[in-house]
Amino acid sequence: MLEEVQQLQSTAVGEIQAAQDQKALEELRVRHLGRKSPLRQAMSQIGKLPTAERPALGQVAGQAQKAIQQAIEDREMALRQAADAGCSLDVTLPGRQPLFGRAHPLTQLTDELVGIFQGMGFDVADGPEAEDEYHNFDALNTPTDHPARDLQDTFYLKDAGLLRTQTSTVQIRVMEQTPPPIRIVVPGRVYRKETVDATHHFAFHQIEGLYVDRGVSFADLKGTIEAMGQQLLGGDAKMRLRPHFFPFTEPSVECDFTCTICGGRNATCSICKGTGWIEIAGAGMVDPAVFEAVGYDSEEFTGFAFGMGLERIAMMRYGIDDIRLFLENDLRFTRQF
Ligand code: DAH
Repeated sequence: MLEEVQQLQSTAVGEIQAAQDQKALEELRVRHLGRKSPLRQAMSQIGKLPTAERPALGQVAGQAQKAIQQAIEDREMALRQAADAGCSLDVTLPGRQPLFGRAHPLTQLTDELVGIFQGMGFDVADGPEAEDEYHNFDALNTPTDHPARDLQDTFYLKDAGLLRTQTSTVQIRVMEQTPPPIRIVVPGRVYRKETVDATHHFAFHQIEGLYVDRGVSFADLKGTIEAMGQQLLGGDAKMRLRPHFFPFTEPSVECDFTCTICGGRNATCSICKGTGWIEIAGAGMVDPAVFEAVGYDSEEFTGFAFGMGLERIAMMRYGIDDIRLFLENDLRFTRQF
């Protein structure tokens, strides 16, 4: 009997030490210490033994019970410590790099250009993308039969109005609201009914400029655009003006700058195509008809205006070969800037 109890104890302790979790341990507690356990059954037999044998068995059984209880407690502790270790802080793990957001390349270019013009005293203005024909065309001296109004160029909205095809609309909106002098730039999105390919998109961005005051001359226009171009492209960039036509300016010009990528020395340059010149802006002296539309006295005030496309400048600067990338918001693209 004594040996049997000792055997029970060593079996129980062995099983308890091998228990893998709390649940297994609880089962072992019931099996080895519960009311139906072999140990408790042996203890219940003590009273039936001859008096002389009772103390010895009582002592061995009591020790076995204590030993089993202790084994359960020890194992419980060990299991808990192992679980704690599993979720503790490992200071040797390499850190996780947080993702930093950054400005879209067009936003970066806009900010840079706006900064350049603010440095020359220009304010920033904006206006609606859903416009009416008056602000997009009529007030800009673009009569009803002008080809720019062609359905092929303009997105007309269902009920009335259109999506602005140029930021020049904001020239009118600002002059309607504000008496001269005016010195503003207007960055914004414009829309044209274009077939989308690598160099054309139906939605793109412009930055518009307008300067109106007494005595504003063509020399002011030239100096302003030249200063802008040199800050944008580098101090050696040279400007040339080519005569052009815009309905809202007279005279009108296109402003080219020397290609700062190849300096005009590379016939295969993808930026200037070997011509040595890149077109940056359209500009001109505000047409008196435009002043008339907004109620400015064209005898008293003169002004110049300009407009540039941002995508083409950004494509040049960053070597981007497909205009569609700007609107796709693919992080693999935007993260490069
Ligand atoms: N609005 C013209 C365009 O979208 C660009 C432009 C040219 C704006 C000359 C001007 C300007 O203000 O004076 O092609």
